[in-house]
Amino acid sequence: MRTPIIAGNWKMNKNPKETAEFVAGLKGKLPDPSKVEAVIGAPAVDLQTLLDGAAGTDLHIASENNYFEDAGAFTGETSPKVLAEMGVNYGIIGHSERRGYFHETDEDINKKAKALIANGLTPIICCGETLETRKANKFGEWVSGQIKAALKDLTADQVASLVIAYEPIWAIGTGETATPEQAQEVCHLIRETVADLYDQTTAENVRIQYGGSMKPANVKELMAQPDIDGGLIGGASLQPDSFIELLHYQG
Ligand code: G3P
Repeated sequence: MRTPIIAGNWKMNKNPKETAEFVAGLKGKLPDPSKVEAVIGAPAVDLQTLLDGAAGTDLHIASENNYFEDAGAFTGETSPKVLAEMGVNYGIIGHSERRGYFHETDEDINKKAKALIANGLTPIICCGETLETRKANKFGEWVSGQIKAALKDLTADQVASLVIAYEPIWAIGTGETATPEQAQEVCHLIRETVADLYDQTTAENVRIQYGGSMKPANVKELMAQPDIDGGLIGGASLQPDSFIELLHYQG
């Protein structure tokens, strides 16, 4: 049984004061962790504030990026070792904004995944196609290729424990949410790709999120899909009310 995971990705938003206020507003409003796992991904500058505010609650914390070395002359980068020491639980990697704006490659993301796992954090590996690839009906091979590259050399047990987020680029921040059928089709393809790379048990255990304009109005229909185990949410996670509504999508 895969526990649903609803994660916010704040991207480059909120300062420590706003972060403290946000997490204080979640107190007593989180879902039963056996029913829905709640996660917030925040900029590095806000992580300690988020961790402090989440102490004693079931809210899990994610970084939005990490380097693949633990320490050294890598100006501006974030150490996965230090993230683990701080108590961060998850690491979002391979987001299309990092791949696009910062030219991260599939190889970079594979190395980041390995570094997270080596430090005891759980990767949330993002994948997804452009509108052009969607329109050309080449999204299946594109996403499958991203997954194969991201999982290179990982063991079945490591893959079974991580999270994959399918985020069609054309749905991110646009309000153009993929239909439940479109999202299910690709999430199923991702699960089949994992089954081909490893085995059926690993494929059944890995959790697959959908991201791309997921909101309270569409979360139920998306989460009703058999291969969608959660959401990775940008805009709708920035407001406490909508994030809490998303967390409680089961009613
Ligand atoms: O990582 C989640 C993000 O890319 C989705 O953003 O604003 O479409 O929910 P948004």
